[in-house]
Amino acid sequence: MAENKRENFGGRFAIIMAMAGSAIGLGNIWRFPYLAGEHGGAAFILVYILSSVFLSLPIFLSESIIGRRSKSNTYGAMKKLAPGTRWKWLSIITILAPLIIVSYYSVVGGWSIEYLVKSLTFGFNSVPKEEITSLFSEFISRPYAPILFHTIFLGTTAIILTAGVKSGIEKFSNWSVPVLFLLILAILLYSLTLPGAMGGVIYMAKPDFSKITSKVILAAMGQSFYSLSLGVGTILVYSSYVSKKENLLVSGLGTAAFDLMFALMAGFAVMTAVFSAGVTPGAGPGLIFESLPYVFATMGESAPVLSGIIATVFFVTILISALTSAVSLMEVGVAYLIEEMKMKRKWATFTTFIGTWTLGCFCSLSFGPLGGIQFFGKTIFGFCDWISSNFLMALGALLFSLFVGWKMKKSDVYDEFTNGGTLKVNVRCFKPVYFLIRYIAPIVILIIFLSGILL
Ligand code: TRP
Repeated sequence: MAENKRENFGGRFAIIMAMAGSAIGLGNIWRFPYLAGEHGGAAFILVYILSSVFLSLPIFLSESIIGRRSKSNTYGAMKKLAPGTRWKWLSIITILAPLIIVSYYSVVGGWSIEYLVKSLTFGFNSVPKEEITSLFSEFISRPYAPILFHTIFLGTTAIILTAGVKSGIEKFSNWSVPVLFLLILAILLYSLTLPGAMGGVIYMAKPDFSKITSKVILAAMGQSFYSLSLGVGTILVYSSYVSKKENLLVSGLGTAAFDLMFALMAGFAVMTAVFSAGVTPGAGPGLIFESLPYVFATMGESAPVLSGIIATVFFVTILISALTSAVSLMEVGVAYLIEEMKMKRKWATFTTFIGTWTLGCFCSLSFGPLGGIQFFGKTIFGFCDWISSNFLMALGALLFSLFVGWKMKKSDVYDEFTNGGTLKVNVRCFKPVYFLIRYIAPIVILIIFLSGILL
């Protein structure tokens, strides 16, 4: 039987590292700091934490419960837990979404390789500061180089996946996630010593409750959701590799805690550096690929070697954090092909690679030669990002919470969440958690979803 051959993660540490690896990514570095600073600092962070506990955690647990109960990929899970129904067709959304995300995520991963090479060769010191912004737009619009780096990034992801769950994903995240924390800590400590760093600290931390509007609350929820990699089946698939002895609540809380810790550290590190160089903070690719290189170039005027080292450490951090996320995204497709199409892992990975690589090439070219192709006024890259983060992720999350809250038997949900009633704290938490999954999560997701499309 296929089930007997399924691998499991080696224990609590491995589970949390793999899940945190998926969660920690570009979202923590290029979106969280800006959102927090712009929307009331500590007040935003408080709303973010509340959203994580009351919305994201229940969805996280829904995915975990489905994954570990079924010990299957997203499609197989629905087939097993709701046999003979249409749920399995709905789950196709959660296979498509991660593959679309990984295609464009890999293009960005590729950019970070290019910028890493630039840092290693002290490339930012030789460019006049004023030209850094145009350097970025010029680079991404080129036809070949970005595709080469996209290929290297996605190829590395695929190589990790061919090694399997334990020797591939687990081994990689067991060392890379702790290394990410060390790197970001080093950058944080350094950036706090920069002149004018306090400006960044104040920007990020000063509590301003007057900025908390309904729109900001929606933004906090959306970010917490995105940051925890929810709604696209990655947590479901990773949870299917969790043994029946483990506590799902602990892995959920652990992952959320590490993700938040990283977002805060990255936030303070990035913003203090940005403020010290007198740059206006923004969100998105511009923050990492324009503002920060500008900061490095400014530092390079007085300390060229140090600035090269810091830039290198920074882009290594971005690269590794993007890789651990890409691994989890691609695994959703790989697990599906292995279990449903009966492919060998190697072929399943290769097939997924070819599909996502091709879409990624189109995404990359949409900054240059294919810029004219537009869907709903968006380029191919923009459309892939928009449809996955505003549409498919919310739909997937809705699907998972409705499935656990309304389709699965309550006794099965209880059994899975409490390990057959043996985990005392989980038994006590079950009622509120079930209520959040059944009523609150679907309603709130629907609101976020509609506002994402309509606003
Ligand atoms: N959580 C990732 C980040 O913060 C991005 C992301 C969104 C993601 N959805 C995902 C990663 C699904 C892996 C799987 O950057």
